[in-house]
Amino acid sequence: MRIRAAVLEEFGQPLVVQDVDLGHPKAGEVLVKVHACGVCHTDLYTASGADPSGYTPCVLGHEGAGVVTEVGAGVTLVRPGDHVITLFSPECGECIHCRSGKTNICLAIREQQGQGYLPDGTPRLSRHGEPMRHFMGTSTFAEYTVMPEIALAKIDPAASLETVCMLACGATTGLAAALWKTEVEAGSTCAVFGCGMVGLGAVLGCAMQGAERVIAVDLSETRLELARGAGATDTIVADQDPVDRILEMTDGFGADYTFEATGLVKVMGQAVEAARMGWGTCTVLGVAGKGEALEIIPRFLITGRKVQGGSFGGARGRTHVPQLVDLYLQGKLDLDPFVSHRLTLDQVNEGFELMEAQDGIRSVIVFDAT
Ligand code: CU
Ligand code: ZN
Repeated sequence: MRIRAAVLEEFGQPLVVQDVDLGHPKAGEVLVKVHACGVCHTDLYTASGADPSGYTPCVLGHEGAGVVTEVGAGVTLVRPGDHVITLFSPECGECIHCRSGKTNICLAIREQQGQGYLPDGTPRLSRHGEPMRHFMGTSTFAEYTVMPEIALAKIDPAASLETVCMLACGATTGLAAALWKTEVEAGSTCAVFGCGMVGLGAVLGCAMQGAERVIAVDLSETRLELARGAGATDTIVADQDPVDRILEMTDGFGADYTFEATGLVKVMGQAVEAARMGWGTCTVLGVAGKGEALEIIPRFLITGRKVQGGSFGGARGRTHVPQLVDLYLQGKLDLDPFVSHRLTLDQVNEGFELMEAQDGIRSVIVFDAT
């Protein structure tokens, strides 16, 4: 079939919205009509050429939500009409990692996905008969996408796809880190460094877990305001020596749980130092530049702090994302304030510009409603 899609033709250049061809789903694969897709930093990072593992041409986009329209042979997890959120991090349920229950890093399709192919080693995307690669196994800056069934989270159809598409990446990363990766305890003190989509998710998660204090740190007063709305009890403008401020606020001990959501190694270091002596846990969520190192003074570890990290916040997509959608529908998870701009697919490059200008938290591309 012929579809409209935003193609990364050349690194550092705007995406080009155009017609491309999409094949039918093969065994274990599913055709999804994309209804909405968030514009995320990872798309911009790849488009800029900064990611050394990037490739062109490919269809970007990975924060998609849509409806299943066709399934390939042997598909049992979803059927046509199901509402789904796309997962760049699949959950096969069968590999040694999935069965361990200890990690969300599913091994089932990793290698092919990383190279831009579906699990059988071929793409479904093409143009003028030339094969074209998929991005993050999702390629959701497109009217339709073909994905493996293990990379789709089936959700309650009552949820607005325009909003819950945020749970495909950023929001879930922060939420899952607080809810499941660290299991923040009621009454604890938390500090969140960086209040973009990931950090705001962490603030929401800490508040939902009953944290007594949630300290949000960011350079932008606008973002700190959103953090207060999400449940932050204290805010710190990041240029005011946040570690000292957090120590002052906690009788010199530090926070029980700290979360880093900036991708800056300097801030990761601050999040380690702001974690409480004795038992503080620092969770690193941001993606640092290739080759950058995080330096930790061993004394911080020997005196009882733990440092951990997790891609997608450690969320097991097919298990956890539908639970977050349910919390949203129950009114326990207010994601609506984070959608700052609604765009058409043709405006995708504006989404990148808004992100670079740090204007708003999330731009969401909304496809024609049919
Ligand atoms: Cu993302
Ligand atoms: Zn697996």
